[in-house]
Amino acid sequence: MVRTGEFEKHFGAPPTVVAASPGRVNLIGEHIDYLGGWVLPAAIDRHLVVEAAPTEDGSFEVVPAASGMGRPARFRNDELHRREDPGERWLNYLVGVLACYRDAGIETPGFRAVVHGDLPAGAGLSASAALETAFALVVERLADAKLDEVARALLCQRAEHECAGVPCGIMDQLAVGAAKADHALLLDCRDLAFRHVPLPGDLALVVVDTGVKHSLADGGYRARREDCERALARLGAASFRELAPAQVESARDLLGETLHRRARHAVGEMDRVGRFAAALAAGDDETVARLLREGHESLRDDFEVSCPELDCLVEAAYSCGPETGHLGSRMTGGGFGGSTISLVRRDAAPALQAHLESAFAAAFGRKPDAFATSAVDGARLLAVESIPNPET
Ligand code: GLA
Repeated sequence: MVRTGEFEKHFGAPPTVVAASPGRVNLIGEHIDYLGGWVLPAAIDRHLVVEAAPTEDGSFEVVPAASGMGRPARFRNDELHRREDPGERWLNYLVGVLACYRDAGIETPGFRAVVHGDLPAGAGLSASAALETAFALVVERLADAKLDEVARALLCQRAEHECAGVPCGIMDQLAVGAAKADHALLLDCRDLAFRHVPLPGDLALVVVDTGVKHSLADGGYRARREDCERALARLGAASFRELAPAQVESARDLLGETLHRRARHAVGEMDRVGRFAAALAAGDDETVARLLREGHESLRDDFEVSCPELDCLVEAAYSCGPETGHLGSRMTGGGFGGSTISLVRRDAAPALQAHLESAFAAAFGRKPDAFATSAVDGARLLAVESIPNPET
């Protein structure tokens, strides 16, 4: 549910443009977007909303009303440099987007904006891509420009590389920007072709945020990317897509222990995505469950991006057999903390959620943030006249 009305509370007048961007989960295809693999994300019913209106003097004024983002800020359009101060780092997503549009010849008139919503930051649910994409839609509306979904996602990804300093792949920006309700997005990250794959109508997604804050800028993410590049160089291959699992197995000595495990995850995960999409379409629950489990174990053991909190939730989920309506679980997103995703029959979602909450609380002494969602539409502009006045 997208809630609006914050702008008027802060600035005493209604906004002229409002953009809402969902977060995303990834069903499978983890850490292979930047390797040109396939991914299968879906947008979730947690959003960041940017409400904005132009300023008279061309300056920017932004108020973060979502929790944990940082301080409000004011700046001119010749101050689009990277922010290092922790309280202002969140601004990098905005200045990055503004700078990239400028490079593309699209000059943004200044605006004041409030950012709010219920999508938590650092939970592995793509709050950064949601923020970039919502700002991108605001910029396009105010600058009277329009990019297609792929061009916009590429621009937001560049903003993240250059201003936020995270060498991310393209999955999050495209998932947030191009998702469709009740569908997952099957995206080929080699050529950015995508199609919407229907999700079974009785399926719910249960998301549990471990509260272990991952910051992809911390270095683990970059280190994994570099491991993969080194493994490819040693194998003399341009992409893991050209390699069969057996080729990686036979190159164990050449790669050494760590790079061998990274490569085994990459080729294994690439192989799993297509099989998972086919199994989901065929209603083959057993294969769905097995592939999700294999995917998690590969991220835990070979790619080493899981953590005890994520592993505990996945184990607790699999202790609920298929007879309870649980189809499968895994960590989702970049890892090093963040969230798990469980696929479950809709009527069984409350029981699974309660079970995961209590298993987590028993192990770690605190209640995690958990919610059930269906797949929702990607980022969009909202009709301003439909925005309810918070005072009425
Ligand atoms: C983060 C990145 C994505 C992707 C995932 C892991 O979410 O932003 O590009 O690499 O991690 O699949």
